[in-house]
Amino acid sequence: MRRPIIAGNWKMYKTIADALELANGLKRELYAIKGVDIVIAPGFTLLDEISDVISGSNINLGAQNAHWEAEGAFTGEASVAQLKELDVKYIIIGHSERRQFFGETNEGVNKRIKAVLSGGLIPIMCVGENLSQREKGNTFSVVQDHLRGGLEGIEKEEAKDIIFAYEPVWAIGTGKTATPAEAQEVHGFIRKKLAEIYDNDTAQSMRIQYGGSVKPDNIEDLIKQEDIDGALVGGASLKVDSFSEIVKKSVG
Ligand code: 13P
Repeated sequence: MRRPIIAGNWKMYKTIADALELANGLKRELYAIKGVDIVIAPGFTLLDEISDVISGSNINLGAQNAHWEAEGAFTGEASVAQLKELDVKYIIIGHSERRQFFGETNEGVNKRIKAVLSGGLIPIMCVGENLSQREKGNTFSVVQDHLRGGLEGIEKEEAKDIIFAYEPVWAIGTGKTATPAEAQEVHGFIRKKLAEIYDNDTAQSMRIQYGGSVKPDNIEDLIKQEDIDGALVGGASLKVDSFSEIVKKSVG
């Protein structure tokens, strides 16, 4: 049985005061919740303060990106060690917004994932097709490319800790969720590919989140699907009520 994992990707939202209010609110609402891994991923400037707020709680800290080098002249980037110092445990890698707006490639994703794993943190590796790729019938080949490229050279022993997030780009921030059946179809495909790349037992143990307009009113139907093990939530993670409700509904 895979334990559900719900992560909130705060993207480039919130300044410190608002972020503290949100984190404190989540802590109050969620302190008694068990049976699910809860992650929030604020922007870099918020991590230090949010880390203090959630320290010792059942909410874990995530970051939205990390560089592959240990240190160096890489303006605008953060290293795994810098994030680890703030008690970051999960790092989102290869989000479609990084791929779309900042030129992230499968090769970059692969290097970042390797750095996160060797730093002892857990990558949340995002894959997913955009609208034109879906319309051309290329969903599976795009997802396969993302998986094979991102996982190149990563052995089973290390890979088993990776969390995957299937985020169809056309469903992000649009209010258009993939139907549970559409999402399940791709999640099933991802697990099949992971079984090919590694083996069936490893693939069965890996968790695959769905992301794209996840809300309190659709999480239950999504999480019921055989291969959907959680959610990566954008917009609805920015409010205490909606994110708490999503977390609570993911454990029934
Ligand atoms: P929305 O939930 O706002 O569609 O964003 C999804 C997402 O990109 C999470 O990483």
